[in-house]
Amino acid sequence: MLLLALESSCDETAVAVVRDGRQILSNLIASQVDLHAIYGGVVPELASRRHLEVINPLVEEALNKAGVQQEDLEGVVVTRGPGLVGALLVGVSFAKAYAYALNISLIGVHHIEGHIQAIQLEEKVDYPFLAVAVSGGHTHLYRVDGIGRYQLLGRTVDDAAGEAFDKVAKMLGLGYPGGPAIDKLAATGNDGGIVFPRPMLKKDNFNFSFSGMKTAVLNYIQRLESPPDTMIIGQISTAFQTAVIDVITQKTLRAAESEGLNRIVVAGGVACNSGLRNKFAELALPNKIDVFFPSPILCADNAAMLTVAGDYYLSQGLSSSLDLNAVSNWPLEQVFNNFK
Ligand code: KG4
Ligand code: ZN
Repeated sequence: MLLLALESSCDETAVAVVRDGRQILSNLIASQVDLHAIYGGVVPELASRRHLEVINPLVEEALNKAGVQQEDLEGVVVTRGPGLVGALLVGVSFAKAYAYALNISLIGVHHIEGHIQAIQLEEKVDYPFLAVAVSGGHTHLYRVDGIGRYQLLGRTVDDAAGEAFDKVAKMLGLGYPGGPAIDKLAATGNDGGIVFPRPMLKKDNFNFSFSGMKTAVLNYIQRLESPPDTMIIGQISTAFQTAVIDVITQKTLRAAESEGLNRIVVAGGVACNSGLRNKFAELALPNKIDVFFPSPILCADNAAMLTVAGDYYLSQGLSSSLDLNAVSNWPLEQVFNNFK
């Protein structure tokens, strides 16, 4: 099945053409980072307007790059939620109009289902597995028994990991988005002896909390006699990233153990983090666990990731109706309330 996929939940407009939920023919991302950087974060209204401007030409480009015609398409897959509702609406409205005009199937997919299943575009990971979805809006642990079959095991009770990276980067004057900047500085491995707390690590559940860690960084900066210089910024970044990674890897491994799962999929924008990738790889071997990471382009927001689930649902005869609406909040466990 040849599918066009659209993603516009936050600050990337993304379009892909994928065959059979496996073969990526094109996977384009128009980033809005420059637009939002001066505000230190995503401005929802600006994001929606930019999606509107770029979606048409990006679809054209994706079809050209894939070497296919509109008429060859058999369905349109779109992120229905969660995300910024105005931004989502651009993709959803475009997808509905496109599916209607071409008289092809429409399917709305959950953004996090896209992230979690993205790995299947690169390598086959058997179910069940444990998924840790770490992005700007999520830090969630799921048992995954198949496409559409998710059981929430734990989640952040406050900030998401990516959000914490972005906020700490802002405190350190590193700009937006903060994750990649902190990742780069932390690669030096020099934390100058700074240790930040590991909230909820000892707790007997699989929930996370990152807001206290962020406050600990703020308190540390405020106690300094002068604004942190480049060396201290690097040390704080390293200490902060190490604390985040410790909590995520240890809790994830514990959850896998408790569920008796020996496969872990790390998904979402924060899964690009090189320290996190290294730490998981290091812990995997002695724990006899296989850890899977999509390539960075499939970890960050992209549209190809939506086609794994989209193709599967359509092949099962499931699709969304033309009154599909965007939703800002949508629990992954209710992914099925989306079909006609
Ligand atoms: O999945 P994603 O692209 O968008 C959402 O669905 O939120 O994730 C974006 C988040 C941002 O918070 C960004 O700072 C973070 O992923 N991120 C990283 C890295 N690359 C992106 N965090 C840590 N290290 C990175 N290398
Ligand atoms: Zn995302």
